Amino acid sequence: MNSDNDLQIAGDILEVPHLLQPPREHPATVAEFAGMARSIANDRSQWAHHVRYDATARWYHRLRTGPGYEVWLLSWVPGQGSGRHDHGRSSGVLTVLEGSLTEHTRRGARTLAAGAQRVFAPGYVHEVLNDALEPAVSLHVYYPGLTEMPMHAAQRCEARV
Ligand SMILES: [Fe+2]
Repeated sequence: MNSDNDLQIAGDILEVPHLLQPPREHPATVAEFAGMARSIANDRSQWAHHVRYDATARWYHRLRTGPGYEVWLLSWVPGQGSGRHDHGRSSGVLTVLEGSLTEHTRRGARTLAAGAQRVFAPGYVHEVLNDALEPAVSLHVYYPGLTEMPMHAAQRCEARV
């Protein structure tokens, strides 16, 4: 018996039905959406056959839909980028599956390696680029599903001289 537990059940657990419900079929919280993205990321059989590198445009494939959310798989060849955009009223979880992507925001740039995950709220503005020498694959969960992706004027924070 671990006396450090925060939660201790007194009596018969079968009398506490709300603790026994199975996990929800569909995610409903940010943590659950991030967890779903990680579980898809960890199971290549769910996405590897949908990867398609297209030199003319980033390749999008809608992998899954559920009540109030969509999951997209994106394939990026070196040099491809999203342009600066927001996601309308959608929140999202971006997970890098293969390769690496660079995310530019008004706070600067960060490299997202395979396994990295970014969670963002409605109104979040960013530009994502594959500026590496290898192709990249990423998984994007939007909730609600993405209905618009307004583009913003290019604006880089770093001064280059
Ligand atoms: Fe985005």
